[in-house]
Amino acid sequence: MDLSYNRIKFFFAGGVLEVANGRIPGRPHDEIVRRIASLAPERCLEICGGTGYGARLLAEALPRAEIASLDLSPENVAFGKRALARSPRGNVDVVEGDASALAYADDHFDVVFSVLGVHEMPSEVRRRALREARRVLRPGGHLVVADLDEHASWPRAFDVYLRVAEPRYAREVLGDGLRGLVTAAGFEIVAHRARMGSLLPFQTLEARKL
Ligand SMILES: C[S@@+](CC[C@H](N)C(=O)[O-])C[C@H]1O[C@@H](n2cnc3c(N)ncnc32)[C@H](O)[C@@H]1O
Repeated sequence: MDLSYNRIKFFFAGGVLEVANGRIPGRPHDEIVRRIASLAPERCLEICGGTGYGARLLAEALPRAEIASLDLSPENVAFGKRALARSPRGNVDVVEGDASALAYADDHFDVVFSVLGVHEMPSEVRRRALREARRVLRPGGHLVVADLDEHASWPRAFDVYLRVAEPRYAREVLGDGLRGLVTAAGFEIVAHRARMGSLLPFQTLEARKL
């Protein structure tokens, strides 16, 4: 049921994500790429990666890293594969899959990351996905996330946006929610910046596998 909701919501979203992502005030994707690049990882996995927009940006910043971007939506993955076919980058791939059941070995990645994806997963799926992220990270590996946050200036308008455009469980990541979920999955928080952005409020979080 939740999977078909996701399919419908993102059926035509590929082109929108590609155009909108670079225009989000505060540029969460750039923020995440900077943070990950400073960790100099060799192997990275993006979960809820959509068309792989973030993974492709990261591939430019880290041309020697191996990067996989995984998403549940076959339409978004197909869009991402077409984008890669137009501008090939040897070190990145876009793959279809469920973040809560990863087909990767334990301790495989240096970084798992997500941009505006964690709020999209239903509560139990999200809990499993964060545990899966921990499983596939090497000891000491990093989880780096940008996701929605409370709105500092227009809480009412943002509440209307949440009602109209996001699933009910999206609210669970707001405020201290994301920190709590990540800590409960077995990570220690390394850095957290709250209420960034102006139009679309977002937070960034970096955590280390314990
Ligand atoms: C708001 S979009 C963001 C996509 C991308 N991170 C970006 O910045 O363009 C959220 C994405 O999460 C994906 N998603 C939702 N649940 C998922 C799951 N369980 N496993 C993998 N991807 C999932 C959706 O298909 C959608 O592409």
